[in-house]
Amino acid sequence: MCGIVGYSGKRSAQEVLLNGLEKLEYRGYDSAGVALALEGGIYVVKSKGRLEVLRRKLEAENLPESFCGIGHTRWATHGEPSDVNSHPHSTPRVSIVHNGIIENYGPLKADLLAKGVTFESETDTEVLVKLIDYFCCAQPKQSPLAALREALAMVRGSYALGVLFRDEPDTIYAVKKESPLIVGWGEGENFVASDIPALLKYTRRYSVLEEGDMAVVKADGIRFYDAFGKPVEREVLTADWDEEAAEKGGYPHFMLKEIHEQPAAITATVSPRVEDGMPDLRIPELSDEKLRSIRNIHLVACGTAMHAGMVGKTAIERLARVPAEVDIASEFRYRDPILDPDDLVIIISQSGETSDTLAALRLAKSRGVPVLAVVNVVGSSIARAADYVLYTYAGPEIAVASTKAYMVQLCTLYLFAFRLAYARGRLSEAETRRLTAELLRAGEVIQPRLADCEQIKYLASRFVNTQSCFFIGRGFDYALSLEGSLKLKEISYVHSDAYAAGELKHGTISLITDGVPVIALATQKQVYEKTISNAKETKSRGARVILFTTKNVVVPEGVADYVVRLDDYDELLMPLQLIVPLQLFAYYMAVLRGCDVDKPRNLAKSVTVE
Ligand code: M6R
Repeated sequence: MCGIVGYSGKRSAQEVLLNGLEKLEYRGYDSAGVALALEGGIYVVKSKGRLEVLRRKLEAENLPESFCGIGHTRWATHGEPSDVNSHPHSTPRVSIVHNGIIENYGPLKADLLAKGVTFESETDTEVLVKLIDYFCCAQPKQSPLAALREALAMVRGSYALGVLFRDEPDTIYAVKKESPLIVGWGEGENFVASDIPALLKYTRRYSVLEEGDMAVVKADGIRFYDAFGKPVEREVLTADWDEEAAEKGGYPHFMLKEIHEQPAAITATVSPRVEDGMPDLRIPELSDEKLRSIRNIHLVACGTAMHAGMVGKTAIERLARVPAEVDIASEFRYRDPILDPDDLVIIISQSGETSDTLAALRLAKSRGVPVLAVVNVVGSSIARAADYVLYTYAGPEIAVASTKAYMVQLCTLYLFAFRLAYARGRLSEAETRRLTAELLRAGEVIQPRLADCEQIKYLASRFVNTQSCFFIGRGFDYALSLEGSLKLKEISYVHSDAYAAGELKHGTISLITDGVPVIALATQKQVYEKTISNAKETKSRGARVILFTTKNVVVPEGVADYVVRLDDYDELLMPLQLIVPLQLFAYYMAVLRGCDVDKPRNLAKSVTVE
């Protein structure tokens, strides 16, 4: 959700903070702000809108150099996006930036109001800073650290915090509870950030704060304390992403760059898990014997990751004949799911920080069910909390719309399904090898789809003024309809719905009138004729149909206005090829409609609140 940064060192803090915030803007972009330690005290500059607005405001202020400060980019939860609701929230003595939610801010605020404290914003964060300030002034006088600890002891909720005290102008206090936070190690300078890209210009060495940790960050060192205030050490990790991986690299948008990075991401994810032509999960605890003992599989995730789970479910059931269910994490966590210790929960997440997904993971663990996480971010909360991890190697995904992360989630779930089916004797060794080889060449298979972008751009230009559209498909194609539809509405703001093609005539077909676009996906032999008939039914009612199908399918006259052909490829793996034109269609629709492709309105990349 929000992004926070902190710096103490020898460079211009303003510059370091702005650079870091630019890299974290994907986490929220309703407003931005910084607090800088200056001679006369803490100086705060903040404003509603994108980082650019803050940058201009700071230029106009022409402040003296500061070497320590905190910064924030906001995704609004409490209170509308406005200057006053922007972070940092401050008193003359203390300034804080916050990612998370203070759940009991109401009663805390009432208490402080009764004590004469006044408020100007609607935010939960202002309550926290006023509480810290209150303890700073308490008698006998408290140290900043003691005041911070006392305030946090009263708070319920989630937070990653950066705190700057007027009386310690060279120190950032960083605290973590249920929201991600890391510190970066430099030479004579140190950093605080919500995520790795904010550090990469300066350092690749970082440590992840654990639950309840506090880090005291100064230019010459970082000290850690655990949830009980005991001094602890935290491992120093090295990021394997470089700064360039988090830049646009000549593409107009991160989304387009990330779509084109998919072949490389596939190779990086699949190759290390293939040994002598056979899929190898490289998790000793998930031996073939263990895989044979699994009774049910629950795939749990949100948004695009959940759509990847739908493809995973179909592959697992089809190949291994193990019952598999897909759950939306925010539903799973509250619906008292039926779980058995012989089940396996597969948690899927790009960021590894999605709050509902993390809660679903914890629920499964509390019921004694083993959890396998498919995660892109190394050391993320989900990766750390799971029993086993299959990392996807997409590299940093910056665009809010997930593309390459989805692609490698699919690849990882396919690999898992192959090994599971082989271990259970449902797939022969020869067939397992053949499918694994097909998966290994997926990057090559999607290359022509990336090259076909002119055709997709043309289609987008034909549909650019549409108000609403429908995606239909069956089986894998239905799962892809959901993802294609989500991509389109998320970034182009065109209303769109996805239906199992056979379900259309049970109500939705009444919405098909002259000119309504229907995007029909028909790549699966067993059902493509059925889907084509459903497309024809919409065409007869005036729909404008785009049909995505494979090379040799004969499309009868009068079914589609446009046909997009995919190359022959194993049907089971066809989603890997089909998703590319759907991503490109959403992308070009958004570009042609003048939308902010990488930062769609109201959204944030990492959803760390419920
Ligand atoms: O980081 P996660 O994979 O856990 O995120 C889950 C969803 O929030 C995410 O996939 C979201 O739906 C994307 N914006 C879709 O493009």
